Amino acid sequence: MLLDRLAERAALGRLLEAARRGQSGALVVRGEPGVGKTALLEDAIESAAGLSIARVAGVESEMELAFAALQHLCAPMLDRVERLPGPQRDALGAAFGLRAGNAPDRFLVGLAALSLLSEVAADKPLLCVIDDAHWLDRASAQALGFVARRLLAESVVLVVATREPGGEFAGLPELCVEGLGSDAAQQLLGSVLTGPMDERVRERIIAETRGNPLALLELPRALTPAELAGGFSGPDALGLSGRIEDSFRRRLEALPAATQRLLVVAAAEPAGDPVLMWRAAGWLEIGVAAAAAAEADGLLTIGETVAFRHPLVRSAVYRAASRQERHAVHRALAAATDPEADPDRRAWHRALATIESDEEVAFELERSAARAQARGGAAAAAAFLERSAALTPGRARRAERALAAAQAKYQAGAFDAALGLLAAAEAGPLDELPRARADLLRGQIAFASSRGSDAPPLLLKAARQLEQLDVRLARDTYLEALTAALFAGRLATGGDLLEVAEAARSAPRPPQPPRATDRLLDGLAVLITEGYPAGVPMLKRAVSAFRGTDVSSEEGLRWLWHACHAAGLVWDYRNWDMLSARQVTLAREVGALQALPIALSTRAGVYLFAGEFGEAASLVAQVEYITKATGSSIAPYWAVALAAWRGRQAETSELIEAAATDVERRGEGGWLSAAQWATAVLCNGLGRYEDALAAAQQASEDKPAGWFINWAIVELIEAAARSGVPDRAADALARLSQTARASGTDWALGIDARSRALVSEGESAETLYREAISRLARTRLRVDLGRAHLLYGEWLRRQRRPRDARDQLRSAYEIFDSSGAGAFAGRARTELRAAGGHPGKRTVETHESLTAQEELIARLAAGGAFNAEIAAQLFISPATVAYHLGKVYAKLGISSRNQLTRALPEQPDAALPVTRGE
Ligand SMILES: Nc1ncnc2c1ncn2[C@@H]1O[C@H](COP(=O)(O)OP(=O)(O)OP(=O)(O)O)[C@@H](O)[C@H]1O
Ligand SMILES: [Mg+2]
Repeated sequence: MLLDRLAERAALGRLLEAARRGQSGALVVRGEPGVGKTALLEDAIESAAGLSIARVAGVESEMELAFAALQHLCAPMLDRVERLPGPQRDALGAAFGLRAGNAPDRFLVGLAALSLLSEVAADKPLLCVIDDAHWLDRASAQALGFVARRLLAESVVLVVATREPGGEFAGLPELCVEGLGSDAAQQLLGSVLTGPMDERVRERIIAETRGNPLALLELPRALTPAELAGGFSGPDALGLSGRIEDSFRRRLEALPAATQRLLVVAAAEPAGDPVLMWRAAGWLEIGVAAAAAAEADGLLTIGETVAFRHPLVRSAVYRAASRQERHAVHRALAAATDPEADPDRRAWHRALATIESDEEVAFELERSAARAQARGGAAAAAAFLERSAALTPGRARRAERALAAAQAKYQAGAFDAALGLLAAAEAGPLDELPRARADLLRGQIAFASSRGSDAPPLLLKAARQLEQLDVRLARDTYLEALTAALFAGRLATGGDLLEVAEAARSAPRPPQPPRATDRLLDGLAVLITEGYPAGVPMLKRAVSAFRGTDVSSEEGLRWLWHACHAAGLVWDYRNWDMLSARQVTLAREVGALQALPIALSTRAGVYLFAGEFGEAASLVAQVEYITKATGSSIAPYWAVALAAWRGRQAETSELIEAAATDVERRGEGGWLSAAQWATAVLCNGLGRYEDALAAAQQASEDKPAGWFINWAIVELIEAAARSGVPDRAADALARLSQTARASGTDWALGIDARSRALVSEGESAETLYREAISRLARTRLRVDLGRAHLLYGEWLRRQRRPRDARDQLRSAYEIFDSSGAGAFAGRARTELRAAGGHPGKRTVETHESLTAQEELIARLAAGGAFNAEIAAQLFISPATVAYHLGKVYAKLGISSRNQLTRALPEQPDAALPVTRGE
C-alpha cells in the first residue's frame, strides 16, 4: 500500500492517460536508494489498465553484456520483428546475437527498438518500465535513451527509474522523488515498531531518515531497544544508504554461515537464475536447507527467479564478503555456467575468480570481446579486453590487448578511456607494427574528437612508420592524414596538405592491381605537389575507379566522400552526383548512421549547384536532424553555402558567427574556406563586389586541392572584374584556366569562358558568353547557367543593346527566381528593369508556416516516400510521421498526399528523389 505520493502518482497517471489517447511520453523517476522509486513504478503498472506492459531492470554487476537489458525488454515482442524494415531487423538480430552479421550501428539499434515498441503499441498502448537504470549495460542504456528522446505519437510511455542524474537519459523530463511527508513517515515507522516509542524519538528518526521509506522500514530492525530509545545516535559518516546497508549487514551476520555463503552466491549471480545458483551452491557444498533462514528473515525470495528484498541487500551481501569468499563463489558460478549457452557470463565469472594473471582466462575474455564486437557492443568488448589485459601474464601480450581495448573504447566513443588504455599499451614492450598502430589510433582519436590541427601530424607520423610494416595500411593512413589536413586547412600547424602529399609520394607503391583508394591517394598527392595538369588525369581515373564494383561497402562508406571531393576538384559533376548518391544509399543500406550526415552533406552540394535549393535544404535539414539525434557534430558547411546562394544575409552571418569560436579553438581551418567562399557568393549576388573580393581572396589562398578553392577563384574573378581591378581578375583567371583545361568538362570550360568574358572586350567577349551559355546549358548546373545569362545580359545592356539584354536577363531571372537564389534574382531584376523589362510577378500562396520538421517530412512525402521510409530516414516512428503530416495537411488546407507537391512553397524540381541512388 503506497502512502503519500499524490503528486507523483498524478504525474504518472497523466502519462498513462495521454498514451490511451495516442500520445507518447518519457519520464525519468530519480531519487536516492530506498526513497520509493520502484514502489512508484509498481503502482504505475497496477494503474495501467488497458495498456500492455514491458519491463526490465538493470542488474548491478561488473559485467558488460552488450544489449542484455534491451534484449530482455524486447524478448516478448520479437514475433513482431519481421514487420520492421530490413536494416532495422538485421540490426536487432545482430545486437541480440540471434543472427550473424556485421556489427550494427548503435543508432540503428535504437531506431529498431523504437520501431518495435511503436509496432506493439499500434494494437494497444504500451507502458515500458525500466528500473535501476543506473545499472543498465551501456549499449542498452544508449538505445533506450535514444528511444525515449524520439517518442511522440506512438502510444508508448517509457518510465525510467534511476539513482543518478545524467547519463544516457539526461535531458528528459524528470520526476524527483523525495522522502515521505511527516504523516506518512510516522505511519510507516509505526508499522514496523513492536513497542511504544517516545514521540520525540520518533520525530528524530523521521528527521534523520529524511522520510526515506526504506530507512524507516529497515533501520529500526537492527537497533537494540536502548539504541531505539535514543534515536539513531552516533556518527553519520556512512550516509543514509550506507547506514541502511550497514543495517542489512548486521542482519546478515546473525545468519548461519551456510546461509551467508548462499547469499553471496545469489548476489554474485546477476541473472537471478535459481538453477544456476543451486548448481554453484552444490560446488560449494551448500545444502538446500541454507535458504530457509534467509527467506525467513525476508532478505531473499527464491521462486522462478532469485530476488533480494532490495537492491541494497545485494550490495551489502556482496561487499560484506571477503575477497577469498568472492573468488570462491565466482569460481563456482563459472563452473556452473554452461560454456556453450552462456560463454560470456562464464568468462566474466572466471575473470572475477582470478587474482593472479592467467593466460587461459585472459584468452577466454578476448574471445568474449570478439563476440561482443560482432553484436555491435563496442563498450562491452572494451570492458572484456581491458580485463583480459589485466589478467595477461606476458608483458608483450598484455600491451597488445590493452591496445585492442583502446581501439574498442575509441569505437564506443569513449575517447578519454581509450587514451588511458593507449598509454598503458605504450608502456609495455610493443613490436613495431602494434607501436605504429598505437600511433595511428592516437591520430584517429585526435581527429574524431576535434577534426582540427592536432590530428594531421599524428596521422602523418603513423603513416611514415607503417610504410615498412604494412603498405596498404600505410597508404590508407596517408589518405586519412590528407583528410585531416583538409579539415585543418590553413590552421594546420604541422602535417599540412603539402607536407602530407610530399610524404605520400615517397611512400612504397601499392600492390598490384591498385585499389581505388590507391589511385585517389596518388592523384591527390600529385595534384598538390605538381599542380593540376599532372594531377587531374590521375584524379579522374581515381574517381572513375570508385564507380567500379570492386569497391567494397566498407571502403565506399569510408572514402566515397573523398572521391566526391576529388570529383568536385576536377569539375566532374556527373560523378559527384553518382558517387554521392551511392554513398547515401550505402549508408542507409548498411545502417551506418554515423556516416550518414557526411554522405547527405556531400549530396546537398550536388543539388545546390543544380539550383534545386528545396532538395538541398531538405538534405541540410536532415543532416542537422540526424546529428542532433546521434549527438555528433559537424560544422554546417552546406547550410552556410545554401544560405549564401539564397542570398540570406542574416542567416549566413549567423551560421558563420555561431561556428567561429569553436572552429578557431579546434583549428578546423577547412570551415574558414567554406565560410569565405559562401560570403563571396552572397556578396557577389548582392552586388557588394569589394566585400566579395576580400572574402574570395582569402579563400583562394588555400593550397591546391583545398576545399572550395576553385569555386572561390571563380568568385574572385567576378568580384575583381566588377571592382575595377582587372589585373587581379586576370591573375585569378590564369589559375582557373589551368584547372579548367586540365579538366575539360562542359562545366569547367563553361565557367572558364564565362570568367574570361568578364575581362574581355567587344566581339570576343560576346563569343565567350555564348560559349559559356551553350556549354553550361548542356549540364545540370543551372545556377552557373543563370549567372552566365546574367553577366551576358549586363554586358549587353552596357553595349546599348537593351532588347538582347532583356532576353538574357529574363532567362537569368527565371532561373534564379525558380531556384530561390534571392540575391542573384534581385540583381537580375534590377538589371532587367534598367533595360526596360518587367520581371513577371511571382504568385506565392501564403499558408500558416510549417515548422522545420513538418516541412522536411512534407517534402519527403511529396517526393514519393512512404511513411515507413520517412520514419527510417528521420529516426522516428511511422506514427510520428503520420502525426506531423496531419498537421501539414491542416496548415496547407489539403486532404491528401498527392496535393502536397503543389501546395508546398518554393519547390523547384521535385522530379528527382532525394535519397535514392541513381
Ligand atoms: N510511498 C510508500 N509507502 C509505503 N512504502 C513505501 C513507499 N515507497 C516505498 N516504500 C517501501 O520502501 C522500500 C523501498 O522502496 P523502493 O524499493 O521503491 O526504493 P527505490 O527508490 O526503488 O530504491 P533503490 O534505488 O535502491 O532501488 C520498499 O520496501 C517499499 O515498499
Ligand atoms: Mg528500486
